[in-house]
Amino acid sequence: MSRISVITGGASGIGRATADVLAEQGDRLVIADINADAATKAVEELKALGTEAHAMVLDVADDRAVEDFFDTVESQIGPVGAVVHSAGILQNAMTTERMDRAEADRIMDVNYRGTWSVNVAACRRMKARQSGAIVNLASINSFAALPIPSYNISKIAVKGLTEILAVEYGVHGIRVNAVGPTYTITPAIQARIDSGHRDPEAIKDAGALKMLVRPRHIAEPIAFLLSDAAAAITGVTLPVDAGWAANTTYSSYVAPIEGFGQ
Ligand SMILES: NC(=O)c1ccc[n+]([C@@H]2O[C@H](COP(=O)([O-])OP(=O)(O)OC[C@H]3O[C@@H](n4cnc5c(N)ncnc54)[C@H](O)[C@@H]3O)[C@@H](O)[C@H]2O)c1
Repeated sequence: MSRISVITGGASGIGRATADVLAEQGDRLVIADINADAATKAVEELKALGTEAHAMVLDVADDRAVEDFFDTVESQIGPVGAVVHSAGILQNAMTTERMDRAEADRIMDVNYRGTWSVNVAACRRMKARQSGAIVNLASINSFAALPIPSYNISKIAVKGLTEILAVEYGVHGIRVNAVGPTYTITPAIQARIDSGHRDPEAIKDAGALKMLVRPRHIAEPIAFLLSDAAAAITGVTLPVDAGWAANTTYSSYVAPIEGFGQ
């Protein structure tokens, strides 16, 4: 039987693109998302391409619901071999002082505590089988301070948790990694472009490659990290940043750079 892969946040953006890539590889998919209509639509699209796919409603910030979700998947569909944890919410740029505390807490609940609950629930079940692979969604700001306080901290925490779990569960044959995408043109980012909170030209200019990164650019490295080709990789947060980190430090040099761009 082919692998059963759970994709949280699989109804949109990076999660949705990952569903396409894993479907092309023959995985059986569970699309878990807080947006029931979008999850149903994604599953209809996947089924139309001949993929076995199931839509399930889940709020990853609800610990009890996460446990119930994995119980249901494993009893009704089968043992989960892979998890892509892509459910997450963004925020607009502001100072910490301006940050609404309730919004800050909700971001931490979804992005960090949700990662904790989903990972631990999955690892506990994978441990019984001594195999499994997980990829979490970190970010370029897992490595840097950016003016998005709660989101930034949540993604630093995702990177740290990925490393801790990789060690705790490595001995049980489970690999836990993350990807750290740059600005990726998903519905979440497009909405911020449309509302004037992100500038596509500035996004392009921020990376060495001067490109707009699309969900599929993130989905392919996720699929790699879940695959046997990455059998010796665990505990890493793989930047998928179009050269954002290199460009940011290089561009911060405080003197003119003779010959650059010529
Ligand atoms: N797009 C980017 O530029 C970017 C960059 C770095 C990291 N990320 C991370 O990638 C992940 C996916 O982001 P995206 O841009 O594809 O966003 P998106 O909004 O397109 O997709 C996110 C999905 O998660 C679902 N979701 C939100 N809250 C949920 C919850 N509590 N429980 C279950 N599902 C929930 C949404 O309904 C949506 O379908 C997020 O963790 C995000 O932080 C995105």
